[in-house]
Amino acid sequence: MEKPKYHIIVCASFRVGGEPKGICHKKGSTGLLPYIENEILDRGMDALVTSSGCMKLCDSGPVVVIQPENVWYGNVDSEDAVDAILDAIEDGKTASGYLLL
Ligand code: FES
Repeated sequence: MEKPKYHIIVCASFRVGGEPKGICHKKGSTGLLPYIENEILDRGMDALVTSSGCMKLCDSGPVVVIQPENVWYGNVDSEDAVDAILDAIEDGKTASGYLLL
């Protein structure tokens, strides 16, 4: 596998011990992973999606981080939110409605 242009990191709430204890997975973050994966394929994006441990912004979850831009999004709890973020990546912009940092 070649290094992807974008890395989409979805918080799955894991703590150091491995147990998911935060908010993001309770708000459906991991349920969006298959949708994101399918959208990446459908759009032909050079991107990889993975899940992560807690990103310490639980109150704003589900949290999604886009690298290498280091753009942090919150309240990504729907396919519409994912679409807005993926559209922004493709357009070289940010999805302002979900921006955290
Ligand atoms: S559980 Fe996602 S930021 Fe803490």
